[in-house]
Amino acid sequence: MTIPALQISDLTKDFGGLRAVDGISFQVEQGEFVGLIGPNGCGKTTTFNCISGLLQITSGKINILGKDATGMRPDQIQSLGLTRTFQHTWLWREMTVIENLLVPPRHQFSPNPFLALLRPKSRKAETQRLIDAYSVLDVLEISHIAHHLTSELSGGQSKLVDIGRALMSSPSFLLLDEPVAGVAGPLAERIFQNLRTLTSDRNIGMLVIEHNMDFILRRDVDRIIVMDGGQILMEGTPNEIKQSRDVVEAYLGNPGGMQE
Ligand SMILES: Nc1ncnc2c1ncn2[C@@H]1O[C@H](COP(=O)(O)OP(=O)(O)O)[C@@H](O)[C@H]1O
Ligand SMILES: [Mg+2]
Repeated sequence: MTIPALQISDLTKDFGGLRAVDGISFQVEQGEFVGLIGPNGCGKTTTFNCISGLLQITSGKINILGKDATGMRPDQIQSLGLTRTFQHTWLWREMTVIENLLVPPRHQFSPNPFLALLRPKSRKAETQRLIDAYSVLDVLEISHIAHHLTSELSGGQSKLVDIGRALMSSPSFLLLDEPVAGVAGPLAERIFQNLRTLTSDRNIGMLVIEHNMDFILRRDVDRIIVMDGGQILMEGTPNEIKQSRDVVEAYLGNPGGMQE
């Protein structure tokens, strides 16, 4: 039996009197590509913040690749192989796209990231890292902007570079918060397909927040988890979700979550 990539049990997060996440349980297998959807404010990002250790949880358990990660710090969680992106992208703006990919992840570098760039482990390791960086750009279909300064990129392109940075750590589990928000339709579809392929090829787990329900229902995801009011309303294949009246009603109650 394989160990689940991520297992959440009865996770609850309160902000003062507000219960943002209300006793949710789910799991994601290795090699599984899962969508997390739900109306604005239903607790998706808070769930990610709890899993990645940025927020202290109120109660529940988090297990990553068979290890109890409950209460761990973000750097400890990252060392278990879990990496994430944020809804709002943060890049080294005066560096090029490829340089951004070559900077070690935030928790690993010395106070000065430029020094880290100048101090490669060995020429062979350096060359391998460069090859990895270009193949990541290829997956994200942004090789053509490798030498552009990130300050010159569109919002959508910046998001892709951010995903690229996450992929550079060779994660065994990836949490992506609205990875294609602001990316034009056809490109967003191709990137989703590429992420899907990557999930299967590298046997990693991927959990992706997406606010556009129409969009995710048409993607090749293994499963979709639908949240509403801090709880899991349902989970199932895109076809099962499509047929569920509960889900449609949750969205009709908040059309903003469906459009945008
Ligand atoms: N740091 C915080 N402090 C207080 N309330 C928060 C905080 N983060 C999120 N919330 C609240 O928790 C609820 C869930 O927010 P969030 O997880 O960001 O929703 P989503 O990502 O699904 O749009 C919202 O009511 C939001 O206002
Ligand atoms: Mg959010």
